[in-house]
Amino acid sequence: METISIMHAPEHVDEKVRIGVWLSNKRSSGKIAFLQLRDGTAFFQGVIRKNDVGEEKFEAAKELRQETSLYVTGTIHEDARSKFGYEIAIEDFEVVGESEDYPITPKEHGIDFLMDHRHLWLRSSRPNALLRIRNEVIRATFEFFNDNDFIKIDAPLLTGSAPEGTTELFETDYFGQDAYLSQTGQLYEEAAAMAFGRVFSFGPSFRAEKSKTRRHLTEFWMVEPEMAWMHQEESLALQERYIAFLVQAVIDNCQRELETIGRDVETLKKYTHLPYPRISYDDAIKLLQENDFDVEWGVDFGSPEETFLANHFDKPVFVLNYPKAIKAFYMKRHPTRDDVVICADLLAPEGYGEIIGGSERDTDLDYLTQQILDAGQDPKNYDWYLDLRKFGSVPHSGFGLGLERFLTWITLQDHLRETIPFPRMINRIYP
Ligand code: 4AD
Ligand code: MG
Repeated sequence: METISIMHAPEHVDEKVRIGVWLSNKRSSGKIAFLQLRDGTAFFQGVIRKNDVGEEKFEAAKELRQETSLYVTGTIHEDARSKFGYEIAIEDFEVVGESEDYPITPKEHGIDFLMDHRHLWLRSSRPNALLRIRNEVIRATFEFFNDNDFIKIDAPLLTGSAPEGTTELFETDYFGQDAYLSQTGQLYEEAAAMAFGRVFSFGPSFRAEKSKTRRHLTEFWMVEPEMAWMHQEESLALQERYIAFLVQAVIDNCQRELETIGRDVETLKKYTHLPYPRISYDDAIKLLQENDFDVEWGVDFGSPEETFLANHFDKPVFVLNYPKAIKAFYMKRHPTRDDVVICADLLAPEGYGEIIGGSERDTDLDYLTQQILDAGQDPKNYDWYLDLRKFGSVPHSGFGLGLERFLTWITLQDHLRETIPFPRMINRIYP
């Protein structure tokens, strides 16, 4: 008899198998009990009949508590009425670990309660589906970049620089020296692009976000590709191909998960059609003003503005060339204007806002040195970065995709916290 996982049950119809499971729920009537089982790979039902297992085992089954772990043995059957499509007719079971009173019951719990019990909540079907989709997006990311001649170069997490500004920094003492938790791997990816051509990193990024919003985590995961010999136009084309690839991968490989969370696949399919619209920041301001938004040229967009813009196009939309004053120091100057830079944010529809921030990088040593000074930082900490402009500087571009931002949109969640196993926010570092 083979020991299998629930996920593979469809390949074992009419076979007798053994599965290690936890009990997530149960109900019984007279001579039959229905056990809702999960093993992490999927959820399905076990059916126990008194006639099959005898009086004693049947009574024991009825006493099992939620989250008891057990080995069940039985035969897999098709079950068209159930969501999973298969069930197991249990012939015997053996308890492995008893369970105390489990705090998370099938009834509704408040979000704080669930977040305090995140370590247990992860066992439930919605988090399971969401984090499986997360895994698929990570897998597809590696596939996409490997297939497009990128190699993964890991950036350090302890750094001496603050490329995205000093207001949201986590500082730490590094043997008497100032150090920060990385806000972005970008500067290191720029160095790596000059060494390997096309590179990407994927790792945690830290921002001491003091605001409490549904779009901000203090620790989030970012995918950061960086391409030597590439201008912004080509980078935008790569970005939209990447997003469409991710959406298609989720459609193809996460059918069950999408069903569990109730995400409409037809809507998702729209986002695989390229190209995505592009609008300049200037035109975006005009469009917003025409629609009664109280915005002036020079401001950064808040969530209502971003929501309006992406909904207006009903697709992800690139907003191009923001004012220099509100963007990072390294962005390339515009060839004919000194008030904007060559950059783009990709805004997601359905109210999800910025999912990608990217730009072409300036290549001029003196300009960048001045930019670092203007940002109130010490160019000494950036000597290594400035070296890249001394030894064969070339046009290069890159971007950062916020993994949880992307996932929250794809899965239509209310809050980023649902898409990361153990979220870190201004008021949460437990569990
Ligand atoms: O726009 P950002 O700050 O850009 C950078 O860090 C660049 N260095 C990236 C690059 O060009 N290599 O951040 C990029 C993306 C945002 O578009 C957003 O999706 C996500 O990271 N992000 C956050 N996600 C969750 N919580 C936060 N506090 C985030 N801040 C940014
Ligand atoms: Mg940004």
